[in-house]
Amino acid sequence: MTNENTTQPIAKISTRNVNVFYGEKKAIDDVSIDIDMDNVTAFIGPSGCGKSTFLRTLNRMNDTIPGARVEGEILLEGEDIYASSMDVVQLRARVGMVFQKPNPFPKSIYDNVAYGPRIHGLAGSRSEMDEIVESSLTRAG
Ligand SMILES: Nc1ncnc2c1ncn2[C@@H]1O[C@H](COP(=O)(O)OP(=O)(O)OP(=O)(O)O)[C@@H](O)[C@H]1O
Ligand SMILES: [Mg+2]
Repeated sequence: MTNENTTQPIAKISTRNVNVFYGEKKAIDDVSIDIDMDNVTAFIGPSGCGKSTFLRTLNRMNDTIPGARVEGEILLEGEDIYASSMDVVQLRARVGMVFQKPNPFPKSIYDNVAYGPRIHGLAGSRSEMDEIVESSLTRAG
């Protein structure tokens, strides 16, 4: 996607002066970055430098950690994700995460694989869902 007036790519996600604290301890210090669409962006650094903490700011997963506090601005397609009007369930459906450790739901394998396409309404019928689940499992070997 490009801005009509320029050829500058528009950032999918922009962060401005983001700080994250766990209680008194500052874990992220003043991060401003644009993450473009259709590109792969990697964060690399030593253990404990704050990669996971920063990623969790992008879909407000830090909200769930007692004592965690986020400062600064984070825009998703220009929209402030920390605005009080933001629906965090919708936000987390749009900004997904694959964690270091897999954490299946206590449901069948079918229901675990169908979970994502189901919440995104990607299958129009049971047979379409069957096809998505089967082809996903086949691709995963
Ligand atoms: N829930 C928490 N409560 C308090 N401090 C935390 C919490 N989670 C992380 N920290 C601290 O914040 C800092 C950043 O941790 P974080 O897990 O984001 O690092 P990381 O770069 O993802 O590390 P790794 O490469 O080991 O996954 C570390 O000092 C860590 O101890
Ligand atoms: Mg980590």
